[in-house]
Amino acid sequence: MMAKNLVQKILESHEAAGTRLSGHEIGIRIDHTLVHDNSGPTAYMLFEALGYERIKNALSICCIDHKTTQVGFENADDHRYLRGMSEKIGAVFSPAGNGICHQVYLERFAKPGITLLAADSHACTAGAIGALGVGVGGLDVAVAMGGGPYLLPVPKIININLVGELRPWVGAKDVILKILQMFSAHGNENAIFEFGGPGTATLTVPQRATIANMGAECGVISAIFPSDAQTLAFCQAQQRASDWQELLPDPKALYDDAVEIDLSRLEPLVAVPHRVDKVRKVRDLAGLPVDQVAIGTCTNAFHADLALVARMLKNRKLHPEVSLAIAPGSRQVLKTLAREGSLYDLVDFGARILEASCGFCIGACFSPPSEGVSVRTSNRNFLGRSGTKNAQVYLASPATAAASAITGRLTDPRQLDMEYPQEMIADQYPIDDSIFVRPDSDADAVVVVRGPNIKAPPLNEKLPPEMEAEVAIRVGDGITTNHILPGGRRNKYRANIPQYAHYVFESLDSNFHARAREIEARGLYSVIVGGEGYGEGSAREHAALCPMHLGVKAVIAKSFARMHRNNLVNFGIVPLIFEKTDDYSRIQKGDKLKFSGLRSSLSENGPIDVVNTSQNVSFRVKVSISPHQTAILLAGGAINLLKSGSRGLF
Ligand code: F3S
Repeated sequence: MMAKNLVQKILESHEAAGTRLSGHEIGIRIDHTLVHDNSGPTAYMLFEALGYERIKNALSICCIDHKTTQVGFENADDHRYLRGMSEKIGAVFSPAGNGICHQVYLERFAKPGITLLAADSHACTAGAIGALGVGVGGLDVAVAMGGGPYLLPVPKIININLVGELRPWVGAKDVILKILQMFSAHGNENAIFEFGGPGTATLTVPQRATIANMGAECGVISAIFPSDAQTLAFCQAQQRASDWQELLPDPKALYDDAVEIDLSRLEPLVAVPHRVDKVRKVRDLAGLPVDQVAIGTCTNAFHADLALVARMLKNRKLHPEVSLAIAPGSRQVLKTLAREGSLYDLVDFGARILEASCGFCIGACFSPPSEGVSVRTSNRNFLGRSGTKNAQVYLASPATAAASAITGRLTDPRQLDMEYPQEMIADQYPIDDSIFVRPDSDADAVVVVRGPNIKAPPLNEKLPPEMEAEVAIRVGDGITTNHILPGGRRNKYRANIPQYAHYVFESLDSNFHARAREIEARGLYSVIVGGEGYGEGSAREHAALCPMHLGVKAVIAKSFARMHRNNLVNFGIVPLIFEKTDDYSRIQKGDKLKFSGLRSSLSENGPIDVVNTSQNVSFRVKVSISPHQTAILLAGGAINLLKSGSRGLF
């Protein structure tokens, strides 16, 4: 029998009958699903729109973690809607203050060998425990909640062989920053990282969580570690050893590619503005004045991360020109810090303790001052994500962040006059599941309250045979979903597509909404033109749904990020790729485009001819999607396909 790697074992044990289409795609059964308050309202409304009543997969969880500052009624209304819907349809509800979805999921629900589909890009965090977590849009999650499989391309499995052991002051963040330096943020969209090698055994599950989490920044489908003695120790500390099983690749398992990283050769690293893969040595930038330091969120927010920081800061004082915020990953982490006294040390140092929520990661709080330098342990440093458009965000380990809070300068922690504190790994966490709201067994009795900010998502029309369109905007390389649709203070409109659509491309072109509406009034569709990696970053399907609402029918780009391309398809926007990338520079905002034979070319998976009548030139575009996705596009989106009675592979 062929030796199998870990990913193959999980995929094969979850393969849904009849879904291996062309050898290029596989459908898997989904054990667990996860949504949060940013993605949940749409996912739940789409679940309803699809006609489902009760969740059919083994476990669904809804966490309130993104919009917990609750300025105005909108967030609180969303939370109430999500709680009511969770009780009605059969999901476990984790209220605000209980923690960030990936952390809470890892602590209390994840198991080795299972599949997780989450409406959030960092679903791969579950790989820390040996689960296969995939980040998608809410529509895919809604389908999985209804019992449908999830289709993914047969992945390229890359073995990251870890050898050696991390030296003092070098942490898990430095490992994943090294990986980002090696792989970059582009070109890995059909890959899964599988970690192995003797160095893996030296990494705890919390360390693995930081590494797996930021697999999302490399753009991979997922990232996974074996389930071994470290995993057992974590499950025991969570008082759920019975959830553990050993899960290892077979000896001599084959991979599509392999790289080796010697942990003992790593040193403190930092991702510099505004790209996660622009990685430098901290010592090369040491001395840079720092305005603020932010530690935590869904990376580096485990107890061990923050206990290390507390030990470094104990009996010291915050540099007077720095502001320090700490966001624990969960209520469990906060309680552990309080129980052992670390919380006192952090507060005594001068730290501001934030709620266990996404907060500063998405610019929902603690935005830096204008042009301020912020050293953060979160996972993204995209321009403007912090809530301050011209802030300079550097991503670093908790040790580097804490050292910088002491000195007021970006500091390599090895340069501190300090012994490396022995990290504290709790062997028992304070377990308390009483805060979770379990689904109501009498679903009919549950009243779901929808506030005035909650509007049903709009639907698309069938794809036309031909299309006349106008280029509503042309953007460059590396456009993230945050560029397409801002988070931060605009997040409160996630459940209100018509309102949220006013902010499409707000940071790049504040006139986009009006222009798209004006193009629509002239009877044309809008087209977006993008560069490399269009739509990287979060899983936010609103970056497809809101443009769709404004009449966008196609995006032509040099390349797409995986999740965004899938979201575009799900909402009936055609993700087209330039056949010749030079054609990108020959197209301008305002150009009129004629797409002939659009439906027929898509059906035949052939190239599509486009005439630019404004420039009097023609060019060709193509699609890189599966046959199932073609069926979705032709129907004008997944909901239309399902409602037409043709369930495809759902
Ligand atoms: Fe939240 Fe930021 Fe993680 S938004 S889920 S803390 S990437």
